[in-house]
Amino acid sequence: MSAEGVLAGRAGVVTGGARGLGRAIAEAFAAAGARVAIVDVAGAQEAAAEIGAGALGLTGDVTDPDGVRAAFAEVAERTGRFDFLVNNAGVRVQAPFRDHPLDAWRRTLDVNLTGSFVCAQAAVALMLARGGGQIVNLASIAGAISLRDRVAYNASKGGVIALTQSIAAELSAQGIRCNAIAPGIVETPLSAPYFRDARMVGAITSNTPLGRWGQPHEIAGPAVFLCSPAAAFVHGQTLFVDGGWTAHKGY
Ligand SMILES: NC(=O)c1ccc[n+]([C@@H]2O[C@H](COP(=O)([O-])OP(=O)(O)OC[C@H]3O[C@@H](n4cnc5c(N)ncnc54)[C@H](O)[C@@H]3O)[C@@H](O)[C@H]2O)c1
Repeated sequence: MSAEGVLAGRAGVVTGGARGLGRAIAEAFAAAGARVAIVDVAGAQEAAAEIGAGALGLTGDVTDPDGVRAAFAEVAERTGRFDFLVNNAGVRVQAPFRDHPLDAWRRTLDVNLTGSFVCAQAAVALMLARGGGQIVNLASIAGAISLRDRVAYNASKGGVIALTQSIAAELSAQGIRCNAIAPGIVETPLSAPYFRDARMVGAITSNTPLGRWGQPHEIAGPAVFLCSPAAAFVHGQTLFVDGGWTAHKGY
C-alpha cells in the first residue's frame, strides 16, 4: 500500500535522523508528503540535503534542553507547523551487569530516556499551540525482554515504554497522540557488529520466527502509520516490529 500523501502538509522532527532507522523514517515521512526536520549531533544537514522535499537539518543534542527548545522553535518558525515528533536518537552500551560502568549507565539513560522526555516536552508545547500532534518513541524489544549484557539499554527502553503510556494518558485531551515502536534487530550502523558475528547471526535468526533481521524501511512504514489518520484510535501502545521475536516463547 502506498503511503504517498498521507502526511501531506504536516511538519515535525525526527531526532537522530542522520542515519539508520531515523534516516529511513525521515525519508518515509518526506515521501508521505511531510516536511521533515532532522535533529542530530552529526550529519543532519547532509542527510536533509539528500532527502530533499524541503527537509531541514539542525545540529542538536537531545540531552540539551535549551538546545532542543531552540531547534524545535526554529522548525516551527521555518515550517509554520509542528505536527509530529519521532524520538529516535539512541545509544547502546554492551557490558556485563557487574562491570557496567556507571557513567555509561547514566549516558544511556540520559540519551534514550531523558532525551525522549526533553524532546517530548518541547514538542508538546509547540503542538498544543497548534491544536495537537503525534509522538512516536523508539523503544526496543529490549524494553520488554532482557537482552544479555545490556542492562542500561534494557532499562532505558523499558522507561521509554512507560514514558509513552504516561504521555498518552496525560495529554490525550489536548489532541496529542503518543505511541512507541519496539523494533527487533534491524540492520543499521548501531547493530552492524551483530552481522559480523556468526554466533549473533544464529541467535537472531533462531529467535525470530520470520528467520531474519529487519531492514530500516520496515520500521519507517509503521512510524508513518502511527502518525497518520489511519492510526487515529491507536494511543499509548507499543507496536513490536520484531519479526515475531517477542511472540516466540516455544521451541
Ligand atoms: N537497529 C536496531 O536493531 C534497533 C533495535 C531496537 C531499537 N533501536 C532503536 O532505534 C533508534 C535508532 O537506532 P539506529 O540503529 O538507527 O542507531 P544508529 O546509531 O545507527 O543511529 C542513531 C542516530 O542517533 C544520533 N544520536 C545519538 N545520540 C544523539 C543525541 N544525544 N542527540 C541527537 N542525536 C543523537 C546519532 O548521531 C545517529 O545519527 C535508537 O533509539 C535505538 O535504540 C534500534
